[in-house]
Amino acid sequence: MSELLSIQDIQRRFPGRRTPIDVLRRKPVSELVAVAGVSLQVQPGEVLGIVGESGCGKSTLARLAVGLHPPDGGSVRLLGEEMHGPDPAGRIQMVFQDPYASLNPRMSIGALLSETLQRYRPDLNPQQRKDEVIGVLGRVGLPPEIAARYPHHLSGGQRQRVSIARALSPRPRLLVADEPVSALDASVQAQIINLLQRLVAEDGIAIIFISHDMQVVRHLCDRVAVMYLGEIVEMQPVEALFANPLHPYTRALIAAVPDIQNRRSAKGPPVSGELPDAFTRITGCRFRLRCPLAESTCKAPQELRQFDAQTAVRCWKTSVERIAP
Ligand SMILES: Nc1ncnc2c1ncn2[C@@H]1O[C@H](COP(=O)(O)OP(=O)(O)OP(=O)(O)O)[C@@H](O)[C@H]1O
Ligand SMILES: [Mg+2]
Repeated sequence: MSELLSIQDIQRRFPGRRTPIDVLRRKPVSELVAVAGVSLQVQPGEVLGIVGESGCGKSTLARLAVGLHPPDGGSVRLLGEEMHGPDPAGRIQMVFQDPYASLNPRMSIGALLSETLQRYRPDLNPQQRKDEVIGVLGRVGLPPEIAARYPHHLSGGQRQRVSIARALSPRPRLLVADEPVSALDASVQAQIINLLQRLVAEDGIAIIFISHDMQVVRHLCDRVAVMYLGEIVEMQPVEALFANPLHPYTRALIAAVPDIQNRRSAKGPPVSGELPDAFTRITGCRFRLRCPLAESTCKAPQELRQFDAQTAVRCWKTSVERIAP
């Protein structure tokens, strides 16, 4: 039985922005590497977290996964089938950070959910479609009256529920949620996280959950991929990641979380310096310019070393003994 989603060595570059002076001087367009060869798998019903600093390529990876960006290399397979663009059957759906920007302000909630249903489930008749709209609103905890309202009538939390309802209406197997709670107040964040947990528990939906918030990731995710400058530097089951972070960058991310009482991570070095931009060509380990443990060996290319099916790290200094229980 194949995985739900399998991403193989996916890559995406963007042309850099040029100033008018660059154009006058005929400076060639430089390219930035947003995603530099990422592979990952998602199993049915699994919640995979993706963490990393701003600009490390999380949103680009999310868009590649759902087919919103064509890759420059590599492939995405959904249930064993290679994808070319968004899945016409709607089996992978995306939920964005800003629910206001992603909902058409001129359409009532009922109309926009109906539109999505018409696109993905054209077999439904108008009455069945109406019933589905009410049903899917109920699944995200909204009353039927919401169907007649417009996005500007709703609170931020209600709007995010509507975005989730829309994402659920094609009956997807996987949601790719790109910072879905970052724009919301803490109590509303908690409600949305509860809702996502319920969808996993009750419907067996899988989620790729992108977040800056390590505590939310710890609470919600089964497994975590840590990204740095377009690459995965570590992958572990969530509890192992927090108990025994393997990559110096992961240790720094966890050490920066104030409330996590973990002796090992409390000793972790803080991340110093700024994230280099994605234009910077760095030989070998891309983290070495900020890594407190860096030495000359780190200038050699670093493989993502797989220790077992769930555990991989891109740092030669991590020994297998560190991973033993
Ligand atoms: N459409 C685009 N055109 C040009 N450059 C882009 C585009 N989208 C992303 N980038 C660049 O690619 C890199 C990765 O961006 P991306 O948005 O994927 O990062 P991110 O990890 O999602 O960051 P954040 O946490 O701020 O959302 C950045 O350097 C960004 O400027
Ligand atoms: Mg992003």
